[in-house]
Amino acid sequence: MADEVKRKTPFGLSLVFPRKARYHGITMDQREFDVIIIGAGASGLFCAAECARRGRRVLVLDHAVKPAQKVLISGGGRSNFTNLNVSAEHYRCGNPHFVRSALARFTPRQVLDLVQGRGIAYYEKEAGQIFCRKSSREIVDLLESDCRRTGVLVLTGLSIESVRKESSFIVVTSNGPFSASSLVIATGGMSYPNLGASDMGYRLAKQFGLRIVPPRPALVPFLFSHAERKTFHQCAGISIDTNVTSGNRSFRGNILFTHKGLSGPAILQASLYWEQKTAITIDLLPGLDIAEAFREKRQSRMLIGNLLGTLLPKRFVQAWLDETLSTRPIVECSNKDLQALAHDLQHWLIVPAGTEGFKTAEVTAGGVDTDELSSKTMEAKKAPGLYVIGEVMDVTGELGGYNLHWAWASGYAAGQYA
Ligand code: FDA
Repeated sequence: MADEVKRKTPFGLSLVFPRKARYHGITMDQREFDVIIIGAGASGLFCAAECARRGRRVLVLDHAVKPAQKVLISGGGRSNFTNLNVSAEHYRCGNPHFVRSALARFTPRQVLDLVQGRGIAYYEKEAGQIFCRKSSREIVDLLESDCRRTGVLVLTGLSIESVRKESSFIVVTSNGPFSASSLVIATGGMSYPNLGASDMGYRLAKQFGLRIVPPRPALVPFLFSHAERKTFHQCAGISIDTNVTSGNRSFRGNILFTHKGLSGPAILQASLYWEQKTAITIDLLPGLDIAEAFREKRQSRMLIGNLLGTLLPKRFVQAWLDETLSTRPIVECSNKDLQALAHDLQHWLIVPAGTEGFKTAEVTAGGVDTDELSSKTMEAKKAPGLYVIGEVMDVTGELGGYNLHWAWASGYAAGQYA
């Protein structure tokens, strides 16, 4: 590429070294910067280019060899990179108002203008969800090329050994120490550890006295109890349009039976609002008045199981419905039985045994407590010069492009001040 020099060091360190950096007087030996960002993911790279546009000398450090790996796999390879309906209501955060300021300053329209300006084609899949038409690689290229153009130095494949604050922040790495007056934690969440996720952001924040809301997997499939697993094992692969309620939030969408439990968009959404040991409620026939359907067929000799088999997948009905009820003609059922069945179909209660955990969770809920941070700048109130952005914060978006949007919005906010 014309505007960059790629170098491999003997230690496997990967350098994306911008020519422009030389123009700014940065050399490979340079150790002092204005801003160091730990984490070359969505929020870190976005923030880096914003800082550099203000003339700041910026270094981004990452232990993974390739930057922005989660962006690359996001949206099944097409990155659902924003949502037209972005608003505070789609985020879970200890302080629900915290996100408002950053979201107002970096809107979905600005994201669309940015990608459109770079010739990236996109489309709205459903309910405001915006995906790349071709590939998420285009978003990663955008982030990397903005860093190159603005003279950001990105060092990957090194480990962070320690961080301390003297007159400036000193970050000691496997490639030696670097210093800067501003330090940005952009290490993301704990999900998908095989892609470089770690708990370093939480440890660093704690080191500087910031409170952490315990991290937990979110946007993640649920696990059945042992008994439910036995009952529903033959349902693996079945998908049903439902309405799932968790806490005080409801989500219309498909649930998908897996070998271990339940997945699918409505379940992933519900997991964000789920508390351990509580029940979720599933309406298996949303928008249908099943009690009325029973009344209409009150005199019919049709078997209950056969009637439900016209409304729901037969394999599921077999597993879900009590066998004696399934083989009973509707006319022989008592009103009480039919009422109870109608109620159960629209209020199927499940207490998940747990979730599939960080290995498959799309995001991590919890994180650095937002009360510790300025909602305008993302700077830590107790530690001037320290900024926290992206998923490592206690801000978690629903499924549908909200998490990447938060990475951009929080990175943009910090990028104006760090
Ligand atoms: P991000 O994870 O992007 O970057 C963190 C960086 O920090 C990584 O490069 C990591 O290597 C580095 N790091 C971590 N620990 C370190 C350490 N100890 N030392 C040095 N570096 C360290 N969201 C969305 O809105 N739309 C979507 O379509 C999807 N799809 C999706 C699919 C899958 C499978 C996953 C796992 C996630 C998504 N997401 C998503 C979520 C989205 O990818 C995520 O919220 C953002 O990438 C978060 O951006 P961050 O910059 O905070 O972290």
